[in-house]
Amino acid sequence: MKKAIGIFDSGVGGLTVYKAIRQAFPAEDLIYFGDTARVPYGPKSRRTIIDYSVQNARFLIQQRVKTIVVACNTSSALALDALHSLTPLPIIGVIAPGSETAVKNTRNGKIGVIGTEATVRSAAYDEAIKLLMPEAKVYSKACPLFVPIVEEGWQDHPIAFEIAKTYLQELMDKGIDTLVLGCTHYPLLSQTISQVLGDEVKLVDSAEAIALHLGEILEQPESTKPGADHFYVSDSEEKFSALALRILQRDIQNLKRVKLYESWFID
Ligand code: DGL
Repeated sequence: MKKAIGIFDSGVGGLTVYKAIRQAFPAEDLIYFGDTARVPYGPKSRRTIIDYSVQNARFLIQQRVKTIVVACNTSSALALDALHSLTPLPIIGVIAPGSETAVKNTRNGKIGVIGTEATVRSAAYDEAIKLLMPEAKVYSKACPLFVPIVEEGWQDHPIAFEIAKTYLQELMDKGIDTLVLGCTHYPLLSQTISQVLGDEVKLVDSAEAIALHLGEILEQPESTKPGADHFYVSDSEEKFSALALRILQRDIQNLKRVKLYESWFID
């Protein structure tokens, strides 16, 4: 039986990653899980993010996927080791591919990283970039308001421009020439971010970077028949569909809500 690529995210933002993977691998079956009942992960603690990520990966493992793509930057930053101890399946997070692309693009070695509070606090991008380019200077900034702006559909609103300017000024003052969009929602704000930073600053879309990376480890299936898509969420299907329409510019099919059954126990 053909096995699917499993993708999970804290919610709907990971559809930017799904979209890049769907484009790169038209014949693969894809299973997407968005943990919409517990989003956002960005302001939560490391332990909670690890617990949630492990539960999400378990769900995908139950669906017999062949590989797991951690679309969520926050989960990738904090939970990758825990996920590797859970399963021998290949697990790909967004941090390494995004960092590699940033290092390839920078000319002056000054790289900005924007993400959720937890991603920035973890310093995962800083470490991954410095491993590849020890002389790099990495400047990170949490931009938590970007997530609700995108979910509200205000990415092109003047408010988005003002907020982006306020968040990004300190990175501009450092003279960055490359900016990693280290959160699933941020590629949807790339036009506004580029308006603020100017065209000279190269934006690294972690969704595109992960699709390229996946191409290095997966063989294209022999069949050219279009792959199937299955979407699962932990909260209402309706809300997810509406946001998915905005992100993918099309309706999605095969969407189901799943329930997590687990009893409480003291850690
Ligand atoms: N998916 C998250 C990420 O890429 C952003 C939303 C959240 O805070 O859960 O980091």
